[in-house]
Amino acid sequence: MTIVVRGGSVVSTSGATPADVVIDGETIAAVLAPGSPMAIAAADGAARVLDATGCYVLPGGVDAHVHLQLPMSPDATSSDTFETGTAAAAWGGTTTVIDFAGQLAGMHVRDAIDERHAEADGQCVIDYGFHLSMGDVHDASLDEMDAVMDEGITSFKYFMAYPGAWYSDDGKLLRAMQRAADLGAMVMMHAENGIAIDVLRNQAVEAGRAEPVWHGRTRPSRLEGEAVHRAAALAEIAGAPLYIVHLSSADALEQVRWARNRGQNVFAETCPQYLYLTIDEHLDREGLDGLRAICSPPLREHHHHGSLWQGLRHDDLAVVATDHCPFCDNEKLLGVDDFRATPNGLGSIEHRMDLLHSGVVTGQLGLSRWVETCSTTPARLFGLYPHKGVIAPGSDADIVVYDPDVTHTLGAETHHMNLDHSVWEGVEVTGQVRSVLSRGTFVIDDRSFVGRAGHGRFVPRGVSDLFV
Ligand code: URP
Ligand code: ZN
Ligand code: ZN
Repeated sequence: MTIVVRGGSVVSTSGATPADVVIDGETIAAVLAPGSPMAIAAADGAARVLDATGCYVLPGGVDAHVHLQLPMSPDATSSDTFETGTAAAAWGGTTTVIDFAGQLAGMHVRDAIDERHAEADGQCVIDYGFHLSMGDVHDASLDEMDAVMDEGITSFKYFMAYPGAWYSDDGKLLRAMQRAADLGAMVMMHAENGIAIDVLRNQAVEAGRAEPVWHGRTRPSRLEGEAVHRAAALAEIAGAPLYIVHLSSADALEQVRWARNRGQNVFAETCPQYLYLTIDEHLDREGLDGLRAICSPPLREHHHHGSLWQGLRHDDLAVVATDHCPFCDNEKLLGVDDFRATPNGLGSIEHRMDLLHSGVVTGQLGLSRWVETCSTTPARLFGLYPHKGVIAPGSDADIVVYDPDVTHTLGAETHHMNLDHSVWEGVEVTGQVRSVLSRGTFVIDDRSFVGRAGHGRFVPRGVSDLFV
């Protein structure tokens, strides 16, 4: 079946151009000059012509960092399932998510991946991939990385934080990076100095400082910057590419810039919460209000925001992902007497494109950089390009028709995430998704949900084409 998306402005990394997009089955067949004989003929023969007049036509968003139905502890599992989370993502203009299979201490990598596949299979509304989080680095688990690559899981997350759970010491990190370098895999790093942070956390609680804001005060940005520096040094020794996840501070960005200026393949992602929310306004609140804003790294002071927006403009920050990891109030309340017991994470999977487009409207980011950081670069860094991340003949027909002029207010009443509150409550944004296609199938049609669980497929990934 042929669909023509007509009358819109196609946005790419090099600008916005009026064009009609012809979709044949699951892929894009042509991108044509509006009014050209070929465009007229395509529309005449199409089963459906979608009017995109006044709208941007975007390559579907790629959210490279999400945690759906993640069991964070025996008492807390992130509240969006593969079905609800991917539906909410589509509502927000995202057509591919990359979640994580997690190998905890004592687990075989094989089992971790098989379990995650079983959870996601048949549940997703849009396409998805997996990274592998490795919490137990040793000879046998490193050997398992080879087979994982062959299955299209080509990126591995390690943790300098969370001692006693996911943490790897520098020796383990170096060995993992050496293996990744041999395989051409991407090393993803949660870069916070978890050993020092644990000292500060325990000291704070022993001194009676157990309110939510102490979650942030005991994870200072200096210890994020220090960890990024160390990770970059280890990656340089190993010759491995490095991707810093959920970068939150100017200190950390400075170290990314330092490594990139040395010519290293060091990339970084930030998240909307680090561009908009602050420790003072969101975390420094009593009880549940503060607990809802607990994530790691923590929300920072306002002055970091400007540095991060600048990093996005200059490409020292390459990607905006959400680190979507929502917990409902009953689980957030686990930390009501001690912030350390709160499951870490926020819900944003639905709002990434709108929040970043609002940055375009306020002049923080160019239109092309919006698409580049939210779609094209994550696709390229994680081996999805050119199937994903671009509107071009032969690419998957993952297409978003986006109205840049609608203003709306975010909040729990109207969002589609399976979450009983919103850290974005009352935030007004400019721009809204009108229609979404995933591989040529409508998921959102003129703001009605028409998707189905099971449409979304696991996407085996290759390696990045961005390494120098
Ligand atoms: O608070 C966060 N970031 N939760 C998700 C787990 C992680 O470290 O990415
Ligand atoms: Zn992390
Ligand atoms: Zn995460």
